Amino acid sequence: MVDLHAHLPQLPNAGLGAGLDLLTWLDRYIFPLERRFDDAEDAARLAPAAFRTFAAAGTTTILAYGAVYKASTDGAFRAAEAHGIRAILGKVMMDRVTYDETIEPSTILERSLRESEELIATWHGADAGRLGYAVTPRFAISCSADMLRESAALAARTGAWWQTHVSEDPGEIAEVARLFPDARDYVDVYDRAGGLGSRTILAHAIHLSDRELARLVETDTRVAHCPSSNLFLASGIMPLARYREAGLGVGLGSDVAGGPDPSIFSVMQVGAYAQAALRTVGGDGRSVLAPLDWLRLGTYDGARALGLEDRIGSIEVGKEADLIAVDPRLTAARRDLPYDAGAIEAADVMSRLIFRAHPDMVRGAWVRGRRLEGPASS
Ligand code: GUN
Ligand code: ZN
Repeated sequence: MVDLHAHLPQLPNAGLGAGLDLLTWLDRYIFPLERRFDDAEDAARLAPAAFRTFAAAGTTTILAYGAVYKASTDGAFRAAEAHGIRAILGKVMMDRVTYDETIEPSTILERSLRESEELIATWHGADAGRLGYAVTPRFAISCSADMLRESAALAARTGAWWQTHVSEDPGEIAEVARLFPDARDYVDVYDRAGGLGSRTILAHAIHLSDRELARLVETDTRVAHCPSSNLFLASGIMPLARYREAGLGVGLGSDVAGGPDPSIFSVMQVGAYAQAALRTVGGDGRSVLAPLDWLRLGTYDGARALGLEDRIGSIEVGKEADLIAVDPRLTAARRDLPYDAGAIEAADVMSRLIFRAHPDMVRGAWVRGRRLEGPASS
């Protein structure tokens, strides 16, 4: 399973702040928390437990944000190296609205670029490509045009990924329009910075215009769909069928702690309910996805969004044996009922894994055939 979007230092706040709008939630619950994830000791305490948590939920590949600090990001990489999970991580870059007033504003752009470059030199491609680096400007509100442009150039020069947030919340979108009056729309802010392309993962992308959607497809930019976060923060519902019809590359993200649960199975469940709501009351008559479509979104499509589909994302000869073992018996209504419909088809099994996901159903997780700590073993 591939989680295309999560925030490592936010895990302690999972489940807090439901119903707040994005910008209020960031100020109240997230920035003070990320401020604490500032040195190697914090990373040594939090990151190993975080990776065990993701593995226990069935995630074998994670694309995640750290905080603005190099030391804790470096520590998170060390923890991923030891744990065995496949991880692409990045130090958050913010030079406009930030949560650490002690960082001298006149040096923040240069320092953030230099520290990101140092982390790329150490970690991008480490352990034969199990670990990777994503240059991580937080979003257009907290980054100057210079920061966006320079960070995109750094990613292009080094072959690292580039990740940020786009078009998540109406208040955020209005603020971006105010800060970047010359841009045509939110996507155009990143386009002008040179940030679009096949190594770019944009989280959320809920409220795209037809022009923005077409531009993402044209540039082969990839999107992390995070439905549980989008409903937790009442940001909106992605018109997923419209995006897929347009040919957009989409995978799934937990967006912990915007999403309250690190499990991609739970993300599929909320996503499926959200799409059903869009069809029944949202006026979008396109067909909803079936359980095996959700499985593909959370596995192969996520791998493809990262350009890693030749190594992971499906069980095929020559791939690297990133696997999970799941006990579907835990998803039955009750084990002692005299009979049920006989859920023997793969689609039926998957339907229950999504809609009756059980916290203990993942019994094992392996990356490159090496067992990960986290899942309760049977
Ligand atoms: N936009 C900018 N930062 C964040 C974040 O930490 N979480 C979410 N959900 N959206 C963001
Ligand atoms: Zn996020």
